[in-house]
Amino acid sequence: MSEPTRTATLTLDGKVINLPVHHPTIGPDVIDIRKLYAEADVFTYDPGFTSTAACESAITYIDGDKGELLYRGYPIEQLAEHSSFLEVCFLLLYGNLPNTAQLADFESRVRNHTMVHEQMHYFFRGFRRDAHPMATMVGVVGAMSAFYHDSTDINDPWQREVAAIRMIAKLPTIAAMAFKYSIGQPFIYPKNSLDYASNFLHMCFAVPCEEYVPNPVIAKALDRIMMLHADHEQNASTSTVRLAGSSGANPFACIAAGIACLWGPAHGGANQAALEQLREIGTVDRIPEFIKMAKDKNSGVRLMGFGHRVYKNFDPRAKVMKESCDEVLELLGVHNNPTLQVAKELERIALQDDYFISKKLYPNVDFYSGIILEAIGFPTSMFTPIFALSRTVGWISQWREMIADPTLKIGRPRQLYIGEQQRDYVDVRHR
Ligand code: SDX
Repeated sequence: MSEPTRTATLTLDGKVINLPVHHPTIGPDVIDIRKLYAEADVFTYDPGFTSTAACESAITYIDGDKGELLYRGYPIEQLAEHSSFLEVCFLLLYGNLPNTAQLADFESRVRNHTMVHEQMHYFFRGFRRDAHPMATMVGVVGAMSAFYHDSTDINDPWQREVAAIRMIAKLPTIAAMAFKYSIGQPFIYPKNSLDYASNFLHMCFAVPCEEYVPNPVIAKALDRIMMLHADHEQNASTSTVRLAGSSGANPFACIAAGIACLWGPAHGGANQAALEQLREIGTVDRIPEFIKMAKDKNSGVRLMGFGHRVYKNFDPRAKVMKESCDEVLELLGVHNNPTLQVAKELERIALQDDYFISKKLYPNVDFYSGIILEAIGFPTSMFTPIFALSRTVGWISQWREMIADPTLKIGRPRQLYIGEQQRDYVDVRHR
C-alpha cells in the first residue's frame, strides 16, 4: 500500500483521531480507518458498502462518472475491439498482455483442462431436468473440490495456478452440461481444435447425430461478450469470493459462492430479468405505461438492465454490447427484432425522462446482452451461466491477488446492534 499522503482528522467527544489517507494510482483517495475502533471505540457504518474500499487491487479500475472501465490499465473498448477472451484472461491473471509464445502456451494449458472428471457426469443426474442451470452450476462447481484435491491447497502457488486454469477451462464445459441436461440432450465433449467461444457453442448446440460447425462471426461476438463480463472491480459476487477466500476456503468453494451471489436479479441475474421484461413489454406502445411503473416505488417494478452502483454515466460495456447487437442480428438476418426495437426505444425514452436523468440511471451491461444471446439461440436461463463462466477469470484473479497478499486477514465486519438489552431466561410456565 502507498505511504499516507495526508491525514484526515476526526473529532469525537473532544478526542482528536488522526487517520492516514492513501492515494491510489487513479480514483478517490481512501481514509484508512483500521485503527479507528481501537482508538475511538466506534465502528463506521456503511451497509451496502456505498463509500467503502474493502481492499487494495491492481486488476480493474472503474470511473463511474466518466463511464470508464480498465482491465490492468487497458480500456475495455480497445480490448473488445482488438483482444480475445483468453488473452484478457492472461492479462487479468498475470498483469500484462502476453506475447505470441505466452499466449500460445496459455491457450494450450486451458485447452488441456477443458474436460471434467467423468464421474462428475453423475452429479447432474441428481438434479431435476427443470432445475435452473445456475442451481446446477453452483452445485457442480462446489463439488469440484471433491475431485481436484491436487489443486485445493491455497498455500501452494502451483496448486493455485492449476486451480485457476482448471476453472477457466472447465466452467464452459460445466455450463454447457447444465444446459444439455436441462433440455434432455446428451453431453457433448469439448473439442480442443476449436477456440474457446466456438468450443462452448459446440458443447451447447452440437448433437451426436450430425456435424455442427460453429459460425465464426457468432463465436467472435460471444468471445467479445465474455471479455466484457470478465471482471468488474469489487462487485457483489467478487466481494463474495474474496470474503469466502479470506477464511482459507478452497478456490472451487469460493467460485461456487461467487456463482450463487451472481445469480441474484440485482446482479448477474439481471440479464435474464431484462430480456424477460422486454418480452413482457412486447411493443413500443406499451413502454410509457411501463416507465410509469418503474418510476413508482410502490409498483415493485424496476427497469432491469438499468442503473448501477458505480456507473453514473453510460456503462461502457453496454455501448459495446449495443453495437454488437446490430452486428449479430444483421448477420443472423433477424431484421427488426421486436425485442431490440423495444430495448432501443425504451432506452431513448428513459434517457429523456427526469426520473432516470436525476438518478443517473443508464443502461448497464445486462440491458442488451440478452438480446444477442437469445439471437444466438440460448434460452434466457443460460444468460447468467454465461455471465458466470465469463466472470470466473475475474473472480479467480481477485482471489489470487488476495491470497498472495501477506497482510491478508479474515473478513469480519461488525454491526450496529439494535436488538434487546441483556435479559434473564423465564421458564415457559411463567411467560
Ligand atoms: C451488474 O457492481 C457491479 O459492478 C455489477 C456488475 C458487474 O459487472 O459485476 O456491473 C453487473 O450487476 C449490473 C447491474 C444489474 N442489475 C440490474 O440491472 C437491476 C436493476 N438495477 C437496480 O436494481 C440498481 O440500479 C442496482 C442494483 C444495479 C444498483 O442499485 P444501488 O446502487 O443500490 O442504487 P439504489 O437501488 O439505491 O437506487 C438508487 C435510486 C433509487 O431511488 P431512490 O430511493 O433514490 O428514490 O434509483 C432507483 C432506486 O429506486 N433505481 C431504479 C433503478 N435502479 C435504481 N429505478 C428504476 N429502475 C431501476 N433499474
